[in-house]
Amino acid sequence: MKFFVDTADITEIKELQATGLLDGVTTNPSLIMKANRPMKEVVAEICAVVDGPVSAEVTATETDAMIREGKILAEIADNVCIKVPLTLDGLKACKALTGEGFLVNVTLCFSAVQALLAAKAGATFISPFIGRLDDINLDGMALIADIRRIYDNYGFDTEILAASVRTMNHVREAALIGADVATVPPATLKGLVKHPLTDKGLDAFLADWKKTGQTIA
Ligand code: E4P
Repeated sequence: MKFFVDTADITEIKELQATGLLDGVTTNPSLIMKANRPMKEVVAEICAVVDGPVSAEVTATETDAMIREGKILAEIADNVCIKVPLTLDGLKACKALTGEGFLVNVTLCFSAVQALLAAKAGATFISPFIGRLDDINLDGMALIADIRRIYDNYGFDTEILAASVRTMNHVREAALIGADVATVPPATLKGLVKHPLTDKGLDAFLADWKKTGQTIA
């Protein structure tokens, strides 16, 4: 499973890039707002730090304008992935942009049939939002499983990018189902390494080691 980080915070991205665990980045207009920086500038900086796909979202709602914006974003760097919303206009833009060889992430997916349409439109990534479905008492993980099955049934290459990930369990379950990627907020991504028994075990080993009076030299 690939890990993308869901943020436009360059400090967090640099820190995670140094771990070697990062395969890409996703941003959206809300995350750009939080970063409080010009979008093109921040996307350029992220693309220079991370080798993998960096999703940058169009804000137009009509196909031709989405294509125009998408191409402007793609000029920032070779690893920009144009993010379009899952609307009919977005799917048309997706078809046109992937047809020209651009990477496209179709976002705001909340149903399996939406994901089927995105794959038919040639999407590079489909982003089903787990957490936002869970928020309204629907089953975000069931959506990931449905999409996995549909894509496998028909041999679609579109990668399932589990989005709106909130917990360690979301990552675990999405990995068990076979999502290709999880995009995870920085704090949740860093939290994946933690286990209380790891900390407890390490404390005990270090305490015993100290008692031996030895050093490794
Ligand atoms: C995905 O690309 C989105 O940016 C993101 O995962 C949305 O997550 P949220 O529901 O926590 O805002």
